[in-house]
Amino acid sequence: MIDYSTFLQLLSHHANVPENWIETLKTQIETALQPQKNKDILIWEEVLNQLPQAHPSEIVLHENIIRIGTGNDLKQNEKNHLMVQLRRLHPWRKGPISFFGVYIDTEWRSDMKWNRLKDHIDVLNDRLVLDVGSGNGYFCWRMRGAGARLVMGLDPYLKYVYQFAAMQKYITDPAVQVLPLGIDDLPSNLQCFDTVFSMGVFYHRRSPFDHLFKLKSLLRPGGQLVLETLIVEGEKGYVLVPEGRYAKMRNVWFIPSPLTLESWLKRAAFSDIHLVDVSLTTTQEQRKTSWMEFESLPDFLHPENNHLTIEGYPRPRRAIFLARRP
Ligand SMILES: C[S@@+](CC[C@H](N)C(=O)[O-])C[C@H]1O[C@@H](n2cnc3c(N)ncnc32)[C@H](O)[C@@H]1O
Repeated sequence: MIDYSTFLQLLSHHANVPENWIETLKTQIETALQPQKNKDILIWEEVLNQLPQAHPSEIVLHENIIRIGTGNDLKQNEKNHLMVQLRRLHPWRKGPISFFGVYIDTEWRSDMKWNRLKDHIDVLNDRLVLDVGSGNGYFCWRMRGAGARLVMGLDPYLKYVYQFAAMQKYITDPAVQVLPLGIDDLPSNLQCFDTVFSMGVFYHRRSPFDHLFKLKSLLRPGGQLVLETLIVEGEKGYVLVPEGRYAKMRNVWFIPSPLTLESWLKRAAFSDIHLVDVSLTTTQEQRKTSWMEFESLPDFLHPENNHLTIEGYPRPRRAIFLARRP
């Protein structure tokens, strides 16, 4: 069973964190990780137990590749065993990550996203940070590497939670955790986080304003939101609502133009709103690899016109907005 106790204790010591919330979190985590709810939990627990015992000679969190130890820290047979266990957690989507020289070439070069935003956001030094929809926690480690005091990732998809736990087994940093919960599990109006990241989550929500207001309620006054999401080119007011799938995804509900999204952030009473990046997603950034063998971006684009998705919509383009809770 993944141990969240030290992290929750650290969280409870943070000023502004309500005490009764920690008890609620404990219960929610226990419930989410009950094997009766998902029998794969037993398999993933076994993976964690089977990972070779090792002490990484270095941990690097501030470079593009999360580096846990070096190839010299393990014998070849141990590395082979490590690789077999990590493969049981396929698909690896967010990275890259190196476990003792075993390079996990993930579907996403998430370092590219981080590099697009890292110089624009408030310096993370000493901050309490929330990463909503953190996946396996790649960005949580980068946030910690950038100086955050405590980083709480949230992801209800348990396989990613166990991928994080595999990294944590070796990194052993009590100030970083990915909790097996979704944003709806957090109470509104916590008002305690210095920075809240919502990256790749907004367009999966059915109600854009509910998401924006929820994110705002989690921030302390003056705290910063980092919102990364799909956008389409268009005027203020324009929103694409896919009729069916978008880039083969069933759960994409709306894709606004940047001006529309800016107006939504204003309407949700954020201040200091800045668009800091717009990038077309390339097949260099998102692709199938030996660690993510399912379909990926090249399969989601139109075979005859790569400006379009396979359904005929504009191909994925993503924006990063910063905004502040007044
Ligand atoms: C497209 S991925 C984005 C991952 C990462 N933040 C990034 O930018 O690359 C969306 C993630 O949000 C998670 N997710 C889905 N519903 C969620 C919810 N209600 N609360 C928090 N995370 C959620 C998914 O499991 C998935 O890992």
